[in-house]
Amino acid sequence: MSKIMKVSRRTLLSGAAGAATLAVTPRLFSPAIAQNAPLKVGLMLPYTGTFAKLGQFIDNGFELYYQQKGLKLGGREVQFIKVDDESKPEAATDNMNRLVGREKVDVVVGTVHSGVAMAMVKVARDTKTMLIIPNAGANDATGALCAPNVFRTSFSNWQSTYPAGKVMFDAGIKNVVTITWRYTAGAEMISAFSENFTKSGGKIVEDLTLPFPEVEFQALITRIATLKPDAVFSFFAGGGAVKFVKDYAAAGLNKTIPLYGAGFLTDGTIPAQGEAANGIKTTLHYADNLDNPANLAFLKAFKAKTGLDGDIYAVQGYDAAALFDIGLNAVGGDAKAQDKMIAAMGAAKIDSPRGPLSFNKAHNPIQNIYLREVRNGRNELVSIAQAAVDDPARGCKLA
Ligand code: PHB
Repeated sequence: MSKIMKVSRRTLLSGAAGAATLAVTPRLFSPAIAQNAPLKVGLMLPYTGTFAKLGQFIDNGFELYYQQKGLKLGGREVQFIKVDDESKPEAATDNMNRLVGREKVDVVVGTVHSGVAMAMVKVARDTKTMLIIPNAGANDATGALCAPNVFRTSFSNWQSTYPAGKVMFDAGIKNVVTITWRYTAGAEMISAFSENFTKSGGKIVEDLTLPFPEVEFQALITRIATLKPDAVFSFFAGGGAVKFVKDYAAAGLNKTIPLYGAGFLTDGTIPAQGEAANGIKTTLHYADNLDNPANLAFLKAFKAKTGLDGDIYAVQGYDAAALFDIGLNAVGGDAKAQDKMIAAMGAAKIDSPRGPLSFNKAHNPIQNIYLREVRNGRNELVSIAQAAVDDPARGCKLA
């Protein structure tokens, strides 16, 4: 069973890692106390496993925004309840029900893994709980299963890789082997890339997959060497991305077959990948050296707080807090005034570190997708692959 953690203001100040050791048995508040109680924010994220660092950076980004607002959101004090979802879809409904049913949180912020997020969306729809997704790209979350109370401050899987199909074809690449984990995010990111690449005139030679979160890449890398495509397009993230990029370089393929991917392949992972990451080109809604004032201020503040370089996960967590703050401010901190809060969040225009951020009718971000290349140990901006990309929100019935 996953750990549930109540985090007081004092433990929060000592950092999320410190707080993680503070496992407290959940208890219920009486309605009278609840009225004066602080706002309850559930953070359901992976704090262990291959996506642990991603969860931690989202957490840190969220916390940074809240600290910058004087330890308040919408003018209210906040109590955090953190759940480690371990990126396990089979535990997701129970974890979400604990936050919603037992803890009665005002909002859930989570998660990273698409399969876990889909279970969370279903509970959020059924219980009308506010849900802000700070990473997971599952297309249906802002597609067929869209709901007024569900927002995303990250991306749809379609959105993150669709632009790469045209960019790669225009760079003279005619045939590609794809490689990813066999689960929602991998399938949807490869499908969107392939949709645009083949429409542009390119050919997919072979789609290679392995189960999530396995990292035994050797046989698949050998297969790529045999097929000799013009390039490889991939989706891996977190610990798996570190290992894949290192294995690819160790096999010498980085010298002969250019490696491309969704930007998660190299975001937050370069310190661990080292030289093996040099020259990898990816598409994402962020680049480390975006020189807009919001990004410069964010990176400086994140470094001051954590001693670490910010990445897209930290940005998405930061923007999740900003979006909820906008909603709460519109209702004087009364999270029960959901309709008005949702209207304000839907109309939000955020000056994000990633560039301009607004939301479509399904509450998925409209944002630039950048082409980046790993140089000098960071994801440097090459060009805007596609400006103001809007997910088609296939199947969403919201007007
Ligand atoms: C996902 O499962 O949607 C996912 C996970 C990790 C990423 C991006 C997407 O970096």
